[in-house]
Amino acid sequence: DISEAVPAALLGWYDCHARTLPWRAAPGAPAPDPYRVWLSEVMLQQTTVAAVKPYFEQFTARWPDIDALAAAPEADVMAAWAGLGYYSRARNLVRCAREVAALGGFPATEAELRKLPGLGAYTAAAVAAIAFDQRAVVVDANVERVVSRLFAIAEPLPGSRRKIGEFAGSITPQTRAGDFAQAMMDLGSGICTTREPKCLLCPLSSHCAGRASGNPSAFPVKSPK
Ligand code: ADE
Repeated sequence: DISEAVPAALLGWYDCHARTLPWRAAPGAPAPDPYRVWLSEVMLQQTTVAAVKPYFEQFTARWPDIDALAAAPEADVMAAWAGLGYYSRARNLVRCAREVAALGGFPATEAELRKLPGLGAYTAAAVAAIAFDQRAVVVDANVERVVSRLFAIAEPLPGSRRKIGEFAGSITPQTRAGDFAQAMMDLGSGICTTREPKCLLCPLSSHCAGRASGNPSAFPVKSPK
């Protein structure tokens, strides 16, 4: 059934086609350091992968672990963040680093991660899945688009969010949830693009109700206005 076929097909695709990114482990490799996962996910919240890369490299060279970042003066972190925008992220970054350092490390569950400064539902789920291999359901804008198409969800955003979360949960595997989440992001950014999705290259095309409808770009459905 689809709840097993979709993650199997997607993870097989990811094993060959995962983007190599500085905060990522290779597919199937042990999870990367939670500090690097958290830092990258906070930077990626409102910023593209291309823009984040050099900042991520500079931050991790200067502050290689959570204790180093926790000990940094806030003004130094703000200055290093300059250009990334949304500066409340940088202030929360410092607050979060200090809390986590005081705790002796990152908590390993989605619920506890959610309590840290700057960690919303998306970031807590992403860190739980990617760094701690927890079965968290990770939904960003790319995943919303992929899921809307896969299940041909007729309702527009934002009303469809709950439904999207339920469908996303139904295809999230018990193992490799972090690879699965990142595979969904790579699929959304490279294949299942907003315009002219590359269905011929998509590992999920045979399961996709949006493709079967003949017009996958119609999903997510736009609200009449
Ligand atoms: N966007 C947000 N998090 C990401 C990740 N881990 N990989 C690729 N794109 C992302």
